[in-house]
Amino acid sequence: MHTYLNYINGNWIKSSAGKTFVSDNPANEKPLGRFQASTKNDVEHAVQAAKSAFPSWKNTPAPQRAEILFAVRDLLKKHKQRLGKLVATEMGKVMKESLGDVQEAIDMFEYMAGEGRRLFGRTTPSELKNKFCYTLRKPLGVAGFITPWNFPIAIPAWKLAPALITGNTIVWKPSSDTPLCALEFVELLQEAGIPKGVVNIITGSGEDVGMPLVKHPEVQVVSFTGHRDTGRAILQAAGIKKVGLEMGGKNAIIVMDDADIDLAVDGILWGGFGTTGQRCTASSRVIAHSIIKKELEEKLLTRIAKLRLGPGTDTRTDIGPLINKAAQEKSQHYVIIGKAEGAKLLCGGYIPKGRGYFFQPTLFTNVHPSMHIAQEEISGPIVSIIEVQNLAEAIQVCNNIEYGLSAAIYTKDINKAFLAINQIESGIVYVNAPTIGAEVHLPFGGVKNTGWEREAGWSGINEFSEEQTVYIDYSNKLQKAQIDTVKE
Ligand code: UN1
Repeated sequence: MHTYLNYINGNWIKSSAGKTFVSDNPANEKPLGRFQASTKNDVEHAVQAAKSAFPSWKNTPAPQRAEILFAVRDLLKKHKQRLGKLVATEMGKVMKESLGDVQEAIDMFEYMAGEGRRLFGRTTPSELKNKFCYTLRKPLGVAGFITPWNFPIAIPAWKLAPALITGNTIVWKPSSDTPLCALEFVELLQEAGIPKGVVNIITGSGEDVGMPLVKHPEVQVVSFTGHRDTGRAILQAAGIKKVGLEMGGKNAIIVMDDADIDLAVDGILWGGFGTTGQRCTASSRVIAHSIIKKELEEKLLTRIAKLRLGPGTDTRTDIGPLINKAAQEKSQHYVIIGKAEGAKLLCGGYIPKGRGYFFQPTLFTNVHPSMHIAQEEISGPIVSIIEVQNLAEAIQVCNNIEYGLSAAIYTKDINKAFLAINQIESGIVYVNAPTIGAEVHLPFGGVKNTGWEREAGWSGINEFSEEQTVYIDYSNKLQKAQIDTVKE
């Protein structure tokens, strides 16, 4: 079995402690490779490399940095099939979605490369004569990334591309479930000509690598996507630095009585079971108007029965495995809880026979909004139907969770759609489309316990830069601002 290395200061090297861990294929539990179980010393080494590389990268004109980002885009395009296959193998999502994962990275690098010629500041008149005011955008310094396994290429790209174009240098700890995807990505960055020390990657656990990275005083910004509990621990440990957090969701699709039911069924199937329900944006709750609930359930059951489980690499597969054994056990655990709470299991709810971390697509109905299965992020192929009588109740149920990432409403009534947009508490809202499928050039992120800051689009630029305010006085005399010239 191959042993993969860390990449620090332009060199592929072993971790200082010399220990390794294994990443496996979730469809057959076979190991894919050994990876460095790095420690605090490696974090130190990587942060110092990133710190040394910062002045020169920062002073490289942004349009020149953009050239390297375009080269990354081109290499991602060239290796799209190979990387897609790797995502399908290491993470388990179906081939089409795995290619989409790579496509999203291509799009993000393209978008952010374009931003290299648009890192705008603002100018504004001064209170005083012969004085000029404007703002500049500056990078923050060393950025620490902690990325998840569910989009092993796309989410790192959401962080890498904006951080690089704005002139930051990076230390990246990828999820220990998908280190191979991350290392292959870094190889492309190296090939594209990213200068040494600008991007460094170290694999290992949250405790031994993630936390020392978050706490490191030379790291100016941390960007994290992952579980709520980890996000909270990061925030507590970070000290005074910028922290971007995306900590998941319990996203709902509201289906009103006037909705196009077949369209809603398509949306629920895709939003609830796409990526085996493991997107942060997954539609894990369906809030159904009582008038259409029965029809919706019947149509969903017919369609769910046709979904084929299998490895992501098999093009006939509709639903791939879960990421690991713990995820499989978590789904099973929530099925037991749901039944005990009195929800009605309509289909699925079990681990199919054979190898791999599969879980049968599961539909619960008669779910009460306060049940655990309606409140907690399961990150598996489990959808809960909650019945409501009207729009006001639907919105109340939709908001009755600690999260606020994505939400959707299916209705043909424009007034209902606008009311929902206005009243739903979420960072993203869809009308007549499921809760997944965000595009790279728009802000992405959530409210409430989902976290804060937005990434992607123009928000990605804000995440990794800060404004410097400049006053230029060309009057040749001391001019005092209004604060100091007030007449009594
Ligand atoms: C996530 O699961 O954290 O909106 C990201 C979507 C994808 C990204 C999801 N573009 O479905």
